Amino acid sequence: MRILSGVQPSGALHLGNYFGMMQSAIALQNQGEAFYFIADYHAMTTVSDPKLLQSNIHEIALGFLACGLDPEKAVFFRQSAVPEVHELAWMLSTVTPMGLLERCHSFKDKIARGFSPSHGLFAYPVLMAADILLYQANRVPVGKDQKQHLEVTRDIALKFNEQYGEVFVIPEPDIREAVATVPGLDGQKMSKSYQNTLELFSEAKPFSKKVMGIKTDSTPVEAPKPTEGSTLLALSRLVAKPEEYQEYESSFRAGGKGYGDLKKALLVQLERFLVPFQEEYQKLKSDPKKVNEILHEGGVKARSVAQKTLEKARIAVGI
Ligand code: ADP
Ligand code: TRP
Repeated sequence: MRILSGVQPSGALHLGNYFGMMQSAIALQNQGEAFYFIADYHAMTTVSDPKLLQSNIHEIALGFLACGLDPEKAVFFRQSAVPEVHELAWMLSTVTPMGLLERCHSFKDKIARGFSPSHGLFAYPVLMAADILLYQANRVPVGKDQKQHLEVTRDIALKFNEQYGEVFVIPEPDIREAVATVPGLDGQKMSKSYQNTLELFSEAKPFSKKVMGIKTDSTPVEAPKPTEGSTLLALSRLVAKPEEYQEYESSFRAGGKGYGDLKKALLVQLERFLVPFQEEYQKLKSDPKKVNEILHEGGVKARSVAQKTLEKARIAVGI
């Protein structure tokens, strides 16, 4: 089984990225041939500062490795180490109906948030399909917001195979319904673009300030707190041990504790969860050469797999 996923270097990694995608990707590296990459070409659709893009790429690499990606088990690389992806994206674009792309929510959301409607943003899902099909991936662990992009990938692959013969494996999305969407500080989906994230590798002070600033309602201290839709409980459920979470939830039902105290308790749970990752991050940070070597080696391995698929596609289309 081949597993593949990617993350855009468009900002710092956060709890939504970890629980939506990275945790399952890291677990799956023991179950098949895993390919994980930093989608730097994709990030160009929203990041136009070259220095920022470079530092984001390095940060994502450090973060993914610190969270447990093992380069001995998974091929870890930059998307741009395999420029063949663009040739395949072009081939795929010739079988992609415009209407399929026009329906994509992420394009419409980005335009609504003020990004300019560039061709790159519009064609984003075709490049993503090329990322996946180039490696003949069977399973693609992603968060729920990527579901539509996976459907587009499957549609494109089926169309290409129908037209040119069985060239591509049809991939299956791997979405953890139990996690669904991790809420951010304001209760909306946690996302870099909403500035409501809890970062995996931030300094202690700003981190605790953010946790203490999580949006809550105005239930008085002594009254029971609503459990439905609570961001505090949703985050605790992800990071606390099961008994600890039960106790935390009971203290909501019982009343008598203010949100300030409940946030302090959550902060302890979050910090304890993140410490091992942060320690690993600091170790890796002191050896930037090693990180670059890992990405370079991964790029070489990924490229040789990609070239084989591209050759197959070239023959199929008559080029
Ligand atoms: P962002 O929305 O912060 O820009 P990305 O688009 O880079 O995040 O997402 C990288 C991966 O993390 C994707 O698989 C995405 O589905 C997942 N992800 C991002 N935010 C969340 C969230 N709040 N809950 C669950 N999964 C998420
Ligand atoms: N679009 C994905 C995101 O924003 C990133 C991505 C690019 C990706 N190519 C991919 C994810 C291929 C999985 C497979 O999160």
